Amino acid sequence: RPEEEEVVDYVFKIVVIGDSAVGKTQLLGRFTKDEFYFDSKSTIGVEFQTRTITLNRKRIKAQIWDTAGQERYRAITSAYYRGALGAMLVYDITKRQSFDHVARWIDELRANADNSIVVMLMGNKSDLAEKRAVAAADAVEFAEEQGLFFSEASAFSGENVEGAFLRLLEEIH
Ligand code: GTP
Repeated sequence: RPEEEEVVDYVFKIVVIGDSAVGKTQLLGRFTKDEFYFDSKSTIGVEFQTRTITLNRKRIKAQIWDTAGQERYRAITSAYYRGALGAMLVYDITKRQSFDHVARWIDELRANADNSIVVMLMGNKSDLAEKRAVAAADAVEFAEEQGLFFSEASAFSGENVEGAFLRLLEEIH
């Protein structure tokens, strides 16, 4: 059916990375379908979802890849990063350890992704402010040191998810 044939100017591959359970799959579902899944299961293997947006009069298909944060599923590294123009590096603002591990994810990016990849550090679960374990100021400082963009968002409420993904896509563009 011709109406389903979508004309796009660019396809941008984005990878979503970070520890298990930080909310990578939920952020993706929120951005691509405006959904949150109450029975979210841990991701096994690799999946991608797409959403096409218009930026500066160009049709851009964001092809966003999601993989398991769990070590035992992570044997696919170089293929996962191949061709990626952007990365959303997610931690959970209520789990200090997920922020402490961000440096390891950056090492993995530097080892496997293109040097010019645009990286956004994303503190997810901003709806759980009363359980916050990572100050935004610490993340801002780290992002500045490492040359990353930074946002906080909530896949649950939807707050700033769209803004953060659009910012990443704009920076690639
Ligand atoms: P792996 O697939 O194991 O790597 O995990 P993941 O990073 O994809 O996490 P997932 O999206 O499956 O979310 C993990 C848990 O956190 C689930 O119970 C989600 O419902 C919950 N969660 C995700 N995002 C948010 C959020 O913004 N706020 C709250 N309160 N819970 C969230």
